[in-house]
Amino acid sequence: MKKIVIAIDGHSSTGKSTVAKRLAEYLQFVYIDSGAMYRAVTFFAIQSHCFKNDKLNNTALLEKLHDIDIDFQFNNKTQKSRILLNGKNVEDNIRGMSVSERVSQIATIPEVRKKLVTLQRDMAHKHNIVMDGRDIGSVVFPEADIKFFMTASAEGRAKRRFEELQQKGETTSFNEVFENIQNRDQIDTTRKHSPLIKAENAIVIDNTNLSEDEQFKIMLKTVSDYLS
Ligand code: DC
Repeated sequence: MKKIVIAIDGHSSTGKSTVAKRLAEYLQFVYIDSGAMYRAVTFFAIQSHCFKNDKLNNTALLEKLHDIDIDFQFNNKTQKSRILLNGKNVEDNIRGMSVSERVSQIATIPEVRKKLVTLQRDMAHKHNIVMDGRDIGSVVFPEADIKFFMTASAEGRAKRRFEELQQKGETTSFNEVFENIQNRDQIDTTRKHSPLIKAENAIVIDNTNLSEDEQFKIMLKTVSDYLS
């Protein structure tokens, strides 16, 4: 039977993953965080010394691309997934500033994107999915059943991200987080391959003034109407 795909794209730190997880849990779909895949490749690149003083050595990374195995471990009961890099759970290694500051560079590399898009499409053969990212509705699944595009003001997003990092005990300033978000927006929207754009038929959710519950209800209503 054809599997259902719900694509959620949008800017950094718009709370895409929070609402995507919640939708997946409610619908008993599998949640796939495509950003985590780009982050895992970035973590691999850092670990394998492909960055020299913040500058990426593309050739070194491309030579090692075949050594990168990315997978998700799904828990069928909780619908939660953990990202595995070469068999190791790297959930806790990929969210800090060191990866965040470098991930947009990694995401501009066409060979990396090709590899990850293939994996993402494979996942949708096996499961009904909610996948969040930047190019899910536009490139990975242009035929997705439902497409959402999430946005919010840059200040609001930086505030949310700063609070998250503080809770995790990372020492960083609000300005650093704000600059990182603006920088990522700039790279994500202007890169040559699969830039962040709203797919033509995506439903826009601006959550600057929406609570998590309000946003969830709006999105769930759309999905329920579609599935009924
Ligand atoms: O969603 P996130 O912030 O964890 O994503 C990390 C980076 O990965 C982000 O700067 C853009 C990139 N990305 C992408 O290019 N395509 C995707 N489908 C998902 C993320």
